[in-house]
Amino acid sequence: MLGTGYLGATHAACMTELGFDVVGLDVDRDKVARLSAGDLPFFEPELPELLCKGLASGRLRFTTSYEDAADFGDVHFVCVGTPQKLGENAADLTHVAAAFSSLAPLLPRRCLVVGKSTVPAGTAALMARLLLAHAPAAEHVALAWSPEFLREGNAVHDTLRPDRLVFGVADAEAERGLREVYAALIEAGVPVVVTDLATAELVKVAANAFLATKISFINAMAEVCEAARADVTKLSEALSYDNRIGGRFLNAGLGFGGGCLPKDIRAFMARAGELGVDQALSFLREVDSINLRRRDRAIDLARELTDGTFAGKRVAVLGAAFKPNSDDVRDSPALDVASRLHQQGALVEVYDPQAMDSARARFPHLSYAASTLAASRDADLVLMLTEWAEFRELDPAVLGSVVRQRRIVDGRNALDPVSWRAAGWQYRALGRP
Ligand code: UGA
Repeated sequence: MLGTGYLGATHAACMTELGFDVVGLDVDRDKVARLSAGDLPFFEPELPELLCKGLASGRLRFTTSYEDAADFGDVHFVCVGTPQKLGENAADLTHVAAAFSSLAPLLPRRCLVVGKSTVPAGTAALMARLLLAHAPAAEHVALAWSPEFLREGNAVHDTLRPDRLVFGVADAEAERGLREVYAALIEAGVPVVVTDLATAELVKVAANAFLATKISFINAMAEVCEAARADVTKLSEALSYDNRIGGRFLNAGLGFGGGCLPKDIRAFMARAGELGVDQALSFLREVDSINLRRRDRAIDLARELTDGTFAGKRVAVLGAAFKPNSDDVRDSPALDVASRLHQQGALVEVYDPQAMDSARARFPHLSYAASTLAASRDADLVLMLTEWAEFRELDPAVLGSVVRQRRIVDGRNALDPVSWRAAGWQYRALGRP
């Protein structure tokens, strides 16, 4: 497993669970040391147990040496990150190129290399040429692209029981290799879609583009609901009973963030431009804008509740992770809003059940509290921006006893307005009257 971030570490532990001997490689020595000691460097339910079980079995270990990994593996999974390029929409392929270039010259025997990273269409074909040119085993190195659809917070489940497997292959040998690797999942009934390399690359970004579009669709409806004095949560519920639409990814609120959806739709637009079909994806620009507008709207609601100014106002922000059950703060809507309130003069106190360390590292200028009540003490306003279960279950009377003013913005439509208003709170939410 080349790269041991969310994807690689999860895949390494899950492949060990499936009975394989696994080596996880990372260029980050600290990460390798922590993983080797059974200390998962990020929060992911079920994964720490699986990691420790794998290490104890003696079939899972971690290394920083490409020679070690190349020598060891019959199958090499490339799981490195593809972040957004600084100042551009396109994906930064530096890590993918580095992984393939480092691995290729060290492959003297028959093996299978499987790309799992999310990449622009056409990358796999380039990597196939690179392997052919630089691997001593040349045409005996098969390449496949098998995108990963795991959600943070559900990574173990999504890896061991995925909705589907997509095998992008250029020849029968690569398909045979993948079918062997995933035999247990295929036997358990997981559907397999076999495609060419470019289609497999596109499936991944198309899936994320669809999910982002669904979220922005309901958030656009939220904008209309606000103007029409209607309730987007009821609208969404009513839509959800139509099986053709479905209720998942139809929660209106602060919108999507994280290390995947935002950068993937932008990289998809950039690649479409290079392919000469930018018009086909111009709607994604709107999806992106609707999403970012929700953050502005949350700030407007907050300003309305603090009588038009944030200067000197104490604001509690509940939630820092980009979504619950994760400590990931990459492109977190909650922290973006918190940071902008801080810039506008508010005294912001942030609390998150898991993401405090990652939030502090990225936003050191914000102030952090050790609990919901500590963050909310003497607050003029509370913003609930990531819908962790402990925030959903908050007792409005208890929180009301520590704040200075009972005013709350529910950025995720996760609280019951009736009980909060009954407890004397001024309650505002996105897309609700
Ligand atoms: C997403 C996809 O769901 C995975 O299938 C994919 O594998 C992954 O990206 C990836 O490309 O690696 P993830 O980023 O973990 O997974 O998070 P999601 O559960 O998709 O949530 C993304 C964002 O959308 C979060 O900020 C969440 O709060 C927001 N969201 C989600 C909404 O605002 N409304 C919803 O109804 C659902």
